[in-house]
Amino acid sequence: MKIRSIVSGMALLCSATFAFAQPAPIIIKFSHVTAVDTPKGAAAEYFKKLVDERSKGRVRIEVYPNSQLYKDKEELEALQMGAVQMLAPSLSKFGPLGVKEFEVFELPYLFEDTQSVHKLTRAPIGQQLLKKLEPKGIVGLAYWDNGMRQMTANRPLHAVSDWKGQKFRIVSAKVTDAYTRAMGAMPQVMAFSEIYQAMQSGVVDGGENALSNIYTQKFYEVQKHLTISNHGYLGYAVVINKKFWDSLPPDIRTLLEGALADATKYNDDIADKDNQRALEAIRKSGKTTIYTLTPEEKAAWKKQMLPVHQQVESRIGKELIQSVYKEIGFKAD
Ligand code: LMR
Repeated sequence: MKIRSIVSGMALLCSATFAFAQPAPIIIKFSHVTAVDTPKGAAAEYFKKLVDERSKGRVRIEVYPNSQLYKDKEELEALQMGAVQMLAPSLSKFGPLGVKEFEVFELPYLFEDTQSVHKLTRAPIGQQLLKKLEPKGIVGLAYWDNGMRQMTANRPLHAVSDWKGQKFRIVSAKVTDAYTRAMGAMPQVMAFSEIYQAMQSGVVDGGENALSNIYTQKFYEVQKHLTISNHGYLGYAVVINKKFWDSLPPDIRTLLEGALADATKYNDDIADKDNQRALEAIRKSGKTTIYTLTPEEKAAWKKQMLPVHQQVESRIGKELIQSVYKEIGFKAD
């Protein structure tokens, strides 16, 4: 009897010591603006799942999708202040932070498709670009694809002249501003979370986005026309607050890097398929007319937009633009 109570007493003591020794988990708040059912949304959830499993509770990722916590501009401020630890903003959104080089990804008709973007993001030049975020207190960990940008509007957009006088929502990138104006339209910078309402109420006539966003944000319900133009690229950088990153134990950093490498592969594998699926769902809804530019129309859009590459040389850096051309084999013809 006595022995039994000593043993159970020891067991109690052991479990109490064990519970006491278990440190509180490291919490990583990961905020983003798109729906869960998008490449970025799904990849963020996948990353969370991998980290939960692999860290056995030592690290907990809390994902906040759909601008639930912060809108575009606010989320970058929140990251820098440490109110959240991780984000995956579109590459265009680092320009207003002062890292203008990222606007190279916005250059119209630079990339044919996501494969040609990989020639840049998976080359040393892609890593060098991520390094440029560090003086801003941000560590760039990975690139994630979404897809090519398409136009939506309430009028059919076939010829360049169809853009005339239209007010289009754009991300806050000078390059996007420049090519929207070059096409004869009026750009209107606006947070992603505000687009639907602005389209519905007629504050803007249209905008450009990847199909997965056009579908999940229901832009197609308030836009009569969708033009498959593939005139630009929408992708992301997965970033983390530098002070927080540097404070993590090295084994946790390695674990996060490993999980992120797998989540990146997952993202890039599903991105094109997701956008294709979104296009089919939009088509099925019958709510918007889908039109693909003819090669002649595409050539006319390209001709109108390409001078912007030169126009923004002083902003982005002529040398950088030239090395990107070389890396991806771009020829302006
Ligand atoms: C946009 O603002 O249109 C996109 O950058 C949103 C996103 O994160 O895909």
